[in-house]
Amino acid sequence: MQLKNKTALITGASSGIGKEIAKKFAEEGALVILTARHLDKLKQVQKEIENNNYCADSFEMDITNREQIKDTIEKIIKKYNKIDILVNNAGIAIWNSIQDVSYKEFDDQININLTGYFNCIKEVVPYMLKEKSGNIVNIITSTVKKTKAGRVAYAASKYGQAGLSNAVHEDLKDKGISIIAVYPSKTNTPIHDRYISKNDPQREKMLKPEKVAEVVLKAALIPAAKDVRELVIDS
Ligand SMILES: NC(=O)c1ccc[n+]([C@@H]2O[C@H](COP(=O)([O-])OP(=O)(O)OC[C@H]3O[C@@H](n4cnc5c(N)ncnc54)[C@H](OP(=O)(O)O)[C@@H]3O)[C@@H](O)[C@H]2O)c1
Repeated sequence: MQLKNKTALITGASSGIGKEIAKKFAEEGALVILTARHLDKLKQVQKEIENNNYCADSFEMDITNREQIKDTIEKIIKKYNKIDILVNNAGIAIWNSIQDVSYKEFDDQININLTGYFNCIKEVVPYMLKEKSGNIVNIITSTVKKTKAGRVAYAASKYGQAGLSNAVHEDLKDKGISIIAVYPSKTNTPIHDRYISKNDPQREKMLKPEKVAEVVLKAALIPAAKDVRELVIDS
């Protein structure tokens, strides 16, 4: 029970990596706050967690909607008093070359992945500063360590997230708030469904989301004083 009495807000908790982080954190005693755009899917994950006698709550929250984020964070604070851990995980993946990527695809990718992480950090940090403690874990990708062809918009958003994470780390490391970027390699989740068939043997070679969740748990337990900036997960 390494997260007993902790409240953990997880974005994109209805699917893939976020869902496994939510289950793992709940098993470790945290009250997990599940957020994403589709409440019905969040409620299914909440039910799964509660059926195992752990604690969860769900809120519809689009990470591109600043008003909705502010409102949701206020509701969470009113109901549960604090947010100890924020896991920025929600995202999309549009894979295209510079020749093929449309302006809309590029803008959507940046708005959701990069600005979305910024929006959530910006709203949660004042509450963490009041408590003089907190852990923020940002899920990036190993693409940032070795970019492949055909990843223009995705790579731009993920490099942006990495820069954001490192910069916020520097701002808050002496204020009791730990900011850690986690870099998973390819992980077998629904994000790949539009590009790689579910039965493709490649899928089995990918990381399992449960493995990523274990590393995210480690990251969420590292105190600010340790000054750890990143954890990389290779397959
Ligand atoms: N899978 C991989 O190979 C891999 C590797 C490295 C890093 N990552 C990163 O890991 C994170 C999770 O990916 P995944 O593979 O678990 O994807 P996934 O299974 O497709 O899940 C994505 C989650 O994000 C939510 N989401 C999408 N847009 C949102 C928005 N605007 N506001 C709020 N929630 C939103 C989705 O729910 P709704 O649609 O209901 O909103 C869903 O819960 C992403 O940041 C991804 O870049 C993935």
